[in-house]
Amino acid sequence: MHEISQNLHKAFVLVCENRRDDGRESCGVTEPGLRAAIKEAMKAAGLPVRVLSVSCMDRCKEGPTVAIMPMNVLYGDVHGCDVPELVTKMKEYLIGGL
Ligand code: FES
Repeated sequence: MHEISQNLHKAFVLVCENRRDDGRESCGVTEPGLRAAIKEAMKAAGLPVRVLSVSCMDRCKEGPTVAIMPMNVLYGDVHGCDVPELVTKMKEYLIGGL
């Protein structure tokens, strides 16, 4: 293992896209296009962040769930209409420092 000296991204947005087909709540079923919408909005805003798909973050009943790292902030009940607010919050986090 070796450390990579320069990370190109200042922060990461982790979007739960877990899909369950057995009827239990799951973010990927509730809001299937969320990660793509967040990625596009962050890119349009010119923010140096990476938007990643992740599996269940164990907050299914509060989902769709999004985490902002390394700020370690979790958002629940996130829908497409919340994407502009996520961009605003990310700008505040980045200006405020890590
Ligand atoms: S399915 Fe998304 S947090 Fe569990």
